[in-house]
Amino acid sequence: MKSRAPFLRAFILGCMTTSLLGLVVAAPFALTHHKDFPFERRYGNAMKSIVAKLGAGGTATPVGPDARVTDGARAAFTGSCATCHGARGAGNGVFGPNTSPNAADLTSPEVRGSSDGALFWITKNGLGFTAMPAFATPYRDADLWALADVVAYVNTFDARRSAR
Ligand code: HEC
Repeated sequence: MKSRAPFLRAFILGCMTTSLLGLVVAAPFALTHHKDFPFERRYGNAMKSIVAKLGAGGTATPVGPDARVTDGARAAFTGSCATCHGARGAGNGVFGPNTSPNAADLTSPEVRGSSDGALFWITKNGLGFTAMPAFATPYRDADLWALADVVAYVNTFDARRSAR
């Protein structure tokens, strides 16, 4: 019986060449496009929530509610996060509206619905393919938990502020 190996090898090589060519042709378009591809946002959000849930696991904030938001963490938020997310977390920092995708509005119902563990995990590891950096290096875990708490309570502060 004649061997099919040469045909198989040619087929695989053909597929690889086509994919490589596809990448070369698509790369400049992917790098310069500023509008979302169809379903890109929905797909990205679904992936983000799955990955954050998987990564965070069952982790809950190790600090009690009273010790939650320290002045240090709020200062760290202003220094490290506000450039993109805005001083009050609404996603309107200087760079926020100019990244693709835009910096998240941390006061939105979706983010408010995230667990402390997911906020911690995203802040620590960042989000690949977006402008959201990983903060594992500049901050220790305890600082990251405090930052996650600032994010979780960003709305509470605004509510208190406007109630005055
Ligand atoms: C250079 C800009 C930039 C900086 C600085 C930045 N972020 Fe982000 N962040 C982003 C972008 C862009 C996204 C949205 C990604 C997306 O839509 O998937 C994001 C998303 C997030 C999310 C996920 C929100 C969601 O939709 O679930 C959290 C939480 C977050 N950032 C917290 C922080 C914290 C805390 C800091 C500071 C320690 C910070 N970010 C600093 C750009 C930034």
